[in-house]
Amino acid sequence: MILELRYGKLRYISFIIVDQICLYIANLVSYIIYVRHSQVPYNFSEHIPVFLIMLAVDVEVTLIFNTLQRVMRRRIRYELRETLIHIVCSFLLLSFILFTTKQGADYSRVVVSFAYAYDFILLVLVHIFWRSFLRKLGKKNERPTALLMSSDAFVEEGLQELEKSQVDVKCILLLLNLEIKEISGVPVVSDIDEAAAIICWERLDHVNIYGIDRRTVPEALTIACAEMKIRIEMVDFKYRILNVKTIRNKDAKYGSLTFLEGKRDIPFSIRRVYWITETEANLQRGFHAHKQNCQLLFCPHGVIDINLDDGEEKTTVTLDEPGKGLMLMPGLWRDMVWKQSGSVLCVLASEYYDEGEYIRNYDEFLAYYKKRVNWIQR
Ligand code: TYD
Repeated sequence: MILELRYGKLRYISFIIVDQICLYIANLVSYIIYVRHSQVPYNFSEHIPVFLIMLAVDVEVTLIFNTLQRVMRRRIRYELRETLIHIVCSFLLLSFILFTTKQGADYSRVVVSFAYAYDFILLVLVHIFWRSFLRKLGKKNERPTALLMSSDAFVEEGLQELEKSQVDVKCILLLLNLEIKEISGVPVVSDIDEAAAIICWERLDHVNIYGIDRRTVPEALTIACAEMKIRIEMVDFKYRILNVKTIRNKDAKYGSLTFLEGKRDIPFSIRRVYWITETEANLQRGFHAHKQNCQLLFCPHGVIDINLDDGEEKTTVTLDEPGKGLMLMPGLWRDMVWKQSGSVLCVLASEYYDEGEYIRNYDEFLAYYKKRVNWIQR
């Protein structure tokens, strides 16, 4: 509720006022129909105390249960569900208040029950009307707006890619909570609920994911986007071949020098470096995937085949010169085959060693892949 208020204060409050008007109309209609058909006399003045409590309960339920969550963007199914929750909770809370204050006998239960039934129908209809009215009132940005989801390793590159596509990034959602408040002037959030509130109230057009395997997108974000009919667009890549700078001396006896520079050449912070040496030809290693870890592989000496599998397609990249690097995103099953004895595999990794983020069973990898794809396509 605090988040909804923070990002859409006036619009959120306008819905509370609209809800109160709906409740007033619902009570009036219910009262008029009751009086016309009932033989029992019932003055509206008798109904006013319970009506005032209903109004107070209505606001309380909205704030406590946050039943206006994402109201500006929500689909009809979610609208019906939240409105039903609102009405049921209001009815129960009102009954509880009347019971504990012993005022149960002084009002017509029939009028109250029907008022809530009419209120349910009114709320659903009026919410739909009110949000389309507010949307029309709102000024549309000239360029499409987006929330960029990325990791600290790829966020700058993601910003540049979206700028090239003429998309305005309004907010960045970092996969890991890195306590960063802004990147290149764009505010950073690390909480899914906050991201969903921004998408809703700032009326962002897209959620763009850059440099993160689509299967690592949190399920809560996928669900929130599906509810708001927001497309999650992947600007990611699975792997990329990099040319590592190499200086060759005219005189071959001096050999060649190949170098990589931190953020300039590698779009992630290097947390770990390891290398595999003293190898024999036809050695095979790997047979795992990572959930988070991005890597840059290179072979400074010898020839190594890297077999990649994303669960759908398989491909092989041969590392056969020191200046050829292979950047791998998480979520790729890989194995390496040493084509020559003594070949050296060097790996720069974005994460510290953590056995928990490895997938070492192929069936588990396929199941993980399938589950994530289903989430994202929902
Ligand atoms: P493993 O990942 O199985 O190597 P590969 O996939 O290339 O065959 O790692 C072998 C062992 O080394 C395993 O017990 C984990 C350990 N290890 C570390 O402790 N830290 C590291 O950074 C790496 C890569 C491995």
